[in-house]
Amino acid sequence: MNYFFITGSSKGLGKSLTELILNDENNTVYGIARSSSIQHDRYIHANLDLSRLDEVEAFQFPSLNDADKVVLVNNAGMVGDVKHVGKINNQKIIEAYNLNLIAPAILVNNFVAAYSNSVNEKMVLNISSGAGRTPIDGWNVYCSTKAGMDMFSQVLKEEVKIDDSNIKVLSLAPGIIDTNMQVQIREAEESDFSNIERFIEYKKGGDLTSPAITAQQVLRFIEEDELSTNVICSVRDLTE
Ligand SMILES: NC(=O)c1ccc[n+]([C@@H]2O[C@H](COP(=O)([O-])OP(=O)(O)OC[C@H]3O[C@@H](n4cnc5c(N)ncnc54)[C@H](OP(=O)(O)O)[C@@H]3O)[C@@H](O)[C@H]2O)c1
Repeated sequence: MNYFFITGSSKGLGKSLTELILNDENNTVYGIARSSSIQHDRYIHANLDLSRLDEVEAFQFPSLNDADKVVLVNNAGMVGDVKHVGKINNQKIIEAYNLNLIAPAILVNNFVAAYSNSVNEKMVLNISSGAGRTPIDGWNVYCSTKAGMDMFSQVLKEEVKIDDSNIKVLSLAPGIIDTNMQVQIREAEESDFSNIERFIEYKKGGDLTSPAITAQQVLRFIEEDELSTNVICSVRDLTE
């Protein structure tokens, strides 16, 4: 059996990816989110608020005696308060750093500890963003958490090489997806986010990719080893 741990499995990209993975009867998914929207024999839900670090630390990776492969997908994320620094709600800064960066780091730490020696095939897939690679005004916290996730992933890859622990590691930007996150971005004030018109135009022009299509692209990065030579990657690297 292949076991997938997917955060943010209730909506958007995480939900589509969970549904796609469950189509294969060799796969079981442990989903983590504050709400659940998937009913399936091979789906197990953990109701957790990942911006609360006590809840993240309490999550225990199960022992899996029949695991051929284990995959952790850190997908849950929030754009947070879209505002320039000086106007951001401090509590939102804490929530976004916790959810986007600290929770994934704790989960990876516990995942590696749990399965390093017990399962042969292992993968950590962090869902990053182009915003971690380009500065965007109004998105300071979002951009910096995703940049942090990219670096966390690169250092992990170095450690995997040194420790010979055989873990595939990727930090994947999924492109622009038609989800609630984009709705939130379009609801920002123009004075807080100079790029807002561009994002409104993406939606009007049909430039957003559906979560179902993006999930298929993400699954290719999980399954096709030749796509994972660079830790920092993007669905835009796909040529077909
Ligand atoms: N949409 C885009 O254009 C885009 C572009 C680049 C990168 N990304 C990245 O792709 C990933 C998925 O984004 P999306 O667009 O699918 O977002 P979304 O539609 O807003 O879904 C976010 C998911 O995260 C979960 N989540 C949010 N806060 C949580 C919390 N405190 N604790 C636990 N789970 C929480 C939500 O579940 P609950 O509400 O049930 O908790 C939901 O399942 C994110 O990492 C995002 O940064 C998205």
